[in-house]
Amino acid sequence: MTASSAKADLDRQRVLDRLSTRRIGRALTVLDETDSTNDDARAAFIRGAPSGLVIVADHQRQGRGSRGRVWQSPAGTDLYVSIADRPMLSPAVLPTLTLAVGLALADTLDGFVQAPERIAIKWPNDLWIDRKKCCGILVEAVATGAQIEGVVIGIGLNVNRQAWPDELRGQATSLAQATGQAFNRSEVLASLLQHVEARIDQLVAKGPSAIVAQINPRLAMRGERVRCDDVAGVLTGVAPNGALCIETASGPVEVIAGTLLPDTTCDDA
Ligand code: BTN
Repeated sequence: MTASSAKADLDRQRVLDRLSTRRIGRALTVLDETDSTNDDARAAFIRGAPSGLVIVADHQRQGRGSRGRVWQSPAGTDLYVSIADRPMLSPAVLPTLTLAVGLALADTLDGFVQAPERIAIKWPNDLWIDRKKCCGILVEAVATGAQIEGVVIGIGLNVNRQAWPDELRGQATSLAQATGQAFNRSEVLASLLQHVEARIDQLVAKGPSAIVAQINPRLAMRGERVRCDDVAGVLTGVAPNGALCIETASGPVEVIAGTLLPDTTCDDA
């Protein structure tokens, strides 16, 4: 990793000036470039970094997405953020941590798009604006044997990007594309950290049901025909354990992992 001067609109002090969190972002490193902020946060965590450590980079050389995908991370436009935390959560509740972070990102986007009906949480780890992906979440456990020591929460948020490679064109968007205005990344980052801390604290204090109750009204494709790997039917919501609920021809099914897609096999030709 390269220690930072960072780009003009990604400024450590400007983020700190806007933060009123108790732990998340109190230790904050801003890098010009690195391979993956999730790897850096994990390494720092293992060396004993404080809970709430945040590492953000202007550019990632090997950004990682879920399911082994690449997270394209060009310089100068977007946010690549990793948060190392030790929330007091049992392993059984960990899947709902991704949903809590998703809700925090919906809160963040609400503040900049100011049209909550355009923003949806696409289970389990994406945020949509106008049905296009604007943000992805990659939560990774830091474990010693069977013992979970903590988590690294990776967030990629498209802020000012205007152009996309062929494979993302028509499927991805940014805050700037969605609103027609550019945003200061320090301000977006400060808002994001504020909301992530609040939603993690809510999950720890009140449990998953409080989070899930707020996810369901904002769930992408709710009431629509979907397919999640080999399960097809109507998406009815998220269960308190974080599983996806699909009403299939043979009854309700809960799915705990998979790739959720609109089911176009039943569309009229
Ligand atoms: C997804 O596939 O939707 C999750 C994408 C997560 C990308 C972020 S960018 C910051 C952090 N560092 C990484 O290498 N990945 C995550």
